[in-house]
This record gives sequence, structure tokens and C-alpha cells, in this order.
Amino acid sequence: MTLTKLNHKIISDKDILLKSQHFLNEMKNRRSVRNFSDRPIPLEAIKNIVMTASSAPSGANKQPWKFIIIQDADIKRKIRIAAEKEEKEFYTKRASEAWLKDLKVFETNENKEFLEEAPYLIAVFKISYSAETNPPSKHYYVNESVGIACGMLITAIHNAGLVTLTHTPSPMGFLQEILNRPKNEKPYLLLPVGFPAEEAEVPIISKKSFEEVAKVI
Ligand SMILES: Cc1cc2nc3c(=O)[nH]c(=O)nc-3n(C[C@H](O)[C@H](O)[C@H](O)COP(=O)(O)O)c2cc1C
Repeated sequence: MTLTKLNHKIISDKDILLKSQHFLNEMKNRRSVRNFSDRPIPLEAIKNIVMTASSAPSGANKQPWKFIIIQDADIKRKIRIAAEKEEKEFYTKRASEAWLKDLKVFETNENKEFLEEAPYLIAVFKISYSAETNPPSKHYYVNESVGIACGMLITAIHNAGLVTLTHTPSPMGFLQEILNRPKNEKPYLLLPVGFPAEEAEVPIISKKSFEEVAKVI
């Protein structure tokens, strides 16, 4: 016997509508934040957030992810130094004119103070194959699975009353070295997590309408 009865509560159409509207309103307030307060957060809350992400669906339930939760100030400093080195290269050499133009509204640059300010950094790694078996065994839809888990991570952070930034210092190989991860793990995203700084500002941007992003047929 490998199947068990699904545990799912059926609610009324009215409640479905109310809950979906309420959640939409909540999520509309989510913003990427680039200025953090150093106010501490209980580690237990971060663990809950990570376990929410880890409850995500994944190809053949392989759960091909690892979340490294960093609170150590020395490690955060090392990550900031390495990230700023890559970002400087990006802003001065690697980024195309078009990319720099698209980034102008965000007023971002190579300074990544938030990597030290935020009480936690979560480095997400994708695990391309399992090294626990001999020979190593395959993982399926790794990018899709880890992307979904990260979406749930960001949602859980917002739901807990905290803020984050989806950060992708490029390339991110330095995370593998600093965090001493095995070679079947590849850095995927780096997320500072915390409270926004009191003076935190966000770019004025708009989101596409339902008609632009969806079609009912
Ligand atoms: C895959 C991905 C990578 C991103 N990388 C960066 C980054 O390296 N630095 C940064 O400041 N913002 C980064 N962002 C944040 C986006 O700029 C931001 O999500 C977008 O402008 C929309 O703003 P919002 O998140 O406040 O809705 C990234 C977002 C995604 C989804």
C-alpha cells in the first residue's frame, strides 16, 4: 500500500473568493527590498520559512535543493566582499548597455551592504544529481523544482512579516567555495532576510494587468 487518503478541506465558493482576494491583497504588498535593518529575527521563524519552501512539489519528489542559512557575521562579510567584486565587474564590464538601461530605475550598483545588514542570508543551492547513491542518481526538472521552492520561500518570508531580495550576483561560484558545498550543488539564489531599514525606499514600478498576463479560453 503506497497511497493514503488525501487530507483536504472543501470550503464554500464564497470563502474561496474571499481567501483568494485576501491573499492577492497581501501579496500585492510584497516588494524586493535593498535596505535592511539589523533587528534580529528568531531562528525558529527562519526554519519555518525554509520548511515551507521545502514542502514544494519537485520532479519525482527528489527535493533537489539545499538552503544554507547564514547568521555568522564573518561569513556574511566574506560573501559581501566576493559578491561586490563580481558586481563591480558586472556594472563596469559584463553588463550590456541595454541591461544597464533596464536596471537604471532600480538605482542599483556594486554596493551590496544588505549582505551584511540583514540578520540572515539564505543561499539556495540546486542539487543537480544525488551523490548519496552509488552510482550517483538523476534528479528531474531541477530548475523548475528549485524555482517553485524559491517562490514559496519568498511568499513565506512575506507572510511572516519580513522582507527579502531575490539576489543573483553573477557569477555565484564564490558561494560554493565560501560555504564549502559539494560539487553536485550549484548556487541558485542568495536572499537576505530581515526587516526593512526605516528609511528603505523601493522603485516605482507597475505590474501587468490580468489581460496582459493571462487569457481565459
Ligand atoms: C531571478 C531574479 C533575479 C534578480 N536579481 C536581482 C539582483 O541581483 N539584484 C537586485 O537588486 N534585484 C534583483 N532581482 C529583483 C528584481 O529587480 C525585482 O523582483 C523586480 O524589479 C520587481 O520588483 P518587486 O520584486 O519589488 O516586485 C531579481 C529578481 C529575480 C526574479
